[in-house]
Amino acid sequence: MASKIVGLGMYAPPKKMTNQDLEKLVETSDSWIMERTGIKSRRIAELGAANSDMGFLASQKALADAGVRAEDIDLIVVGTCTPDMPLPSTACFIQKKLGARNAFALDLNAACSGFIYALSVADALIRAGRGRKALVLGSEILSSVTDYTDRATCILFGDGSGAVVLAECPEGDGVLSCHLHSDGNLWELIHCPGGGTVNPLTPDLISRRMIYIRMQGNETFKHAVTKMVDVAQKALAHNGCTIDDVALFIPHQANLRIVSAVGKRLGVTPDRVFVNLERYGNTSAASVPIALAEAKAQGRIRPGDLVLLVAFGAGLTWGSALIRM
Ligand code: UT7
Repeated sequence: MASKIVGLGMYAPPKKMTNQDLEKLVETSDSWIMERTGIKSRRIAELGAANSDMGFLASQKALADAGVRAEDIDLIVVGTCTPDMPLPSTACFIQKKLGARNAFALDLNAACSGFIYALSVADALIRAGRGRKALVLGSEILSSVTDYTDRATCILFGDGSGAVVLAECPEGDGVLSCHLHSDGNLWELIHCPGGGTVNPLTPDLISRRMIYIRMQGNETFKHAVTKMVDVAQKALAHNGCTIDDVALFIPHQANLRIVSAVGKRLGVTPDRVFVNLERYGNTSAASVPIALAEAKAQGRIRPGDLVLLVAFGAGLTWGSALIRM
């Protein structure tokens, strides 16, 4: 058996942070942010909000869309780098909130590639017979690790959650392939140095702002473009497809210039590239499932369509999934 997406849902907190709001926090401008990133605003969770609350709401919508009951879910896999707590997993909190009492639940951290990694793991577990129905999420409160004194990063990030229900299907339908890659040698390009075992949480660590994401934007940009193109091409070659067979290309929503460069190199026409980053910014693992749910809601994906998902993030990690909807 293979696995297929049978339901989609997303949630973004109502509070908006616009470029004009950021102009009041750091030395930046709406025109710089628009020109360099394409982002106009992002959604920000209330201080102290739980990632699992957003994940719960996105999951409820995905379950309703699929017509599946929470107790029929066998496994929950959450891609996140901003969990509710170091332990237990955010997936266990979502399980509790949903009443998905028959599921086993786990988190997985592949940063912005988290959803594609989670999808790949859930698909493999279904193929291995470890379950028949899965909830797969990408869910983040990036504002909790964003330094709002660093203009190079705070303009990018937002919060949100996307969920899909994955169910057994015959081979040749649903998730046709997943390709995953990592390169830990390049960890310094995007990282959050504090709060783990290397730099345990102390008042000094907080005062040195080590609990926030640090990024070498320019270098990261170059890797994002080349690696997303490469892994997208791997997905197409593996399935004997060309980009013209793809109804919709959904890349990680990091930066409009990255999305455009990747689309151009792949030769996909702009009308088949999904973009919503102007409203959400970069929501890390949540970006691809939020985009997927919005694309479906907007009627841009029809049953039988081929959809190509591609992501890239800290690790470095990157991956692609080719899906028959
Ligand atoms: O989610 C996966 C991983 N993340 C990404 O894929 C993000 C990849 N990187 C990027 O999106 C871009 O590199 C950024 C948007 C972060 C930065 O854009 P850039 O075109 O690479 O700018 P830059 O870092 O080369 O900086 C150019 C200039 C610098 O000034 P100087 O040194 O030339 O005087 C920066 O200090 O722009 C300055 N700058 C800003 N100016 C106004 C940096 N941030 C800002 C800002 N407002 N917010």
